[in-house]
Amino acid sequence: MGKLLVTGATGNLGRLTLQALLTQVPPDRLAGLVRDPSRAADLAEQGVDIRKGDYFDHDSLVEAFAGVDRLLLVSAEAFTDRDTQHANVITAAKQAGVQHVIFTAVQRREDSDARQVGVTDGDIFAENALKNSGLTYTILRHPVFTEVLGGHLGADPYDNGVRVPEGDGTVAPATRHDLAAANVAVLTQDGHENATYTLGGSEAASFRDIANALTEIHGSEVPYVPITAEEYSESYLAQGVPREVAEFLTAWVTAIADGAFSENTGDLERLIGYRPTSYREFLAQNHPRLTQEETP
Ligand SMILES: NC(=O)c1ccc[n+]([C@@H]2O[C@H](COP(=O)([O-])OP(=O)(O)OC[C@H]3O[C@@H](n4cnc5c(N)ncnc54)[C@H](OP(=O)(O)O)[C@@H]3O)[C@@H](O)[C@H]2O)c1
Repeated sequence: MGKLLVTGATGNLGRLTLQALLTQVPPDRLAGLVRDPSRAADLAEQGVDIRKGDYFDHDSLVEAFAGVDRLLLVSAEAFTDRDTQHANVITAAKQAGVQHVIFTAVQRREDSDARQVGVTDGDIFAENALKNSGLTYTILRHPVFTEVLGGHLGADPYDNGVRVPEGDGTVAPATRHDLAAANVAVLTQDGHENATYTLGGSEAASFRDIANALTEIHGSEVPYVPITAEEYSESYLAQGVPREVAEFLTAWVTAIADGAFSENTGDLERLIGYRPTSYREFLAQNHPRLTQEETP
């Protein structure tokens, strides 16, 4: 039996996935792809085979994927050439004899032509490259990570209200912990071949619903304050955020408000076998903090 390899092993999702795998799978079946092995010493100490490779370096990937059966491709970061990186991983996996590649994309609706800047086109490119590669695939489409939701609600929502572009669209944010559990399910179980899952947490909410939840959690009113996309983008520019990043962040909330994330399938709960954490539980647990990170 070949190994299970997780890319991005020094990142949030990849590390959580390997940590969860370590509770279920003998470590000698696990491998992690990293750019800097010194940052994965803890995983190596637990027996994970840490392999060095870069999505931009095709040969390094072919070497790193030797003896791997299933591979989780944690999608490359925004503002980099994601298409080249994803294509390199997929062709290297094929060359190295990997059987099954799992790709993490962002949730989108098949019935919509909406394009989220920096996200949608790259996801479609990678999904098509994978489907055309002849490899067995599984596509896991993610909602907003719960850990970064607070960063999407405008500056200091407990003081200023939820100031976001108007719209009744909903999203069911999911924690990286629960999404990592879904990765484990697909890496370790049969029955997910050539499937596409849309993963969501246990509670879908519009920005108005989120403002109501914050009101309840905070104990004083947190109003929903609809603004235009331009105003939202300007608020980032005023904080010194580069225009490209401001547009990227604005595209996320606009997509949510417009309904691009409104589909809630139950796929995550089915995959992990327990009720995923809801955004409300996460925000209540972290109150008065909204996010575990500086920016989305
Ligand atoms: N749905 C959402 O709300 C949301 C939010 C944020 C991000 N995302 C997406 O989800 C992915 C996973 O999230 P995360 O929180 O785990 O992100 P993260 O902590 O930034 O992890 C990304 C991982 O990808 C690795 N990586 C980046 N470029 C690479 C390259 N050229 N070659 C090899 N490895 C490379 C990074 O390696 P290093 O450790 O060496 O940097 C890191 O380990 C992100 O990359 C992004 O595409 C989604």
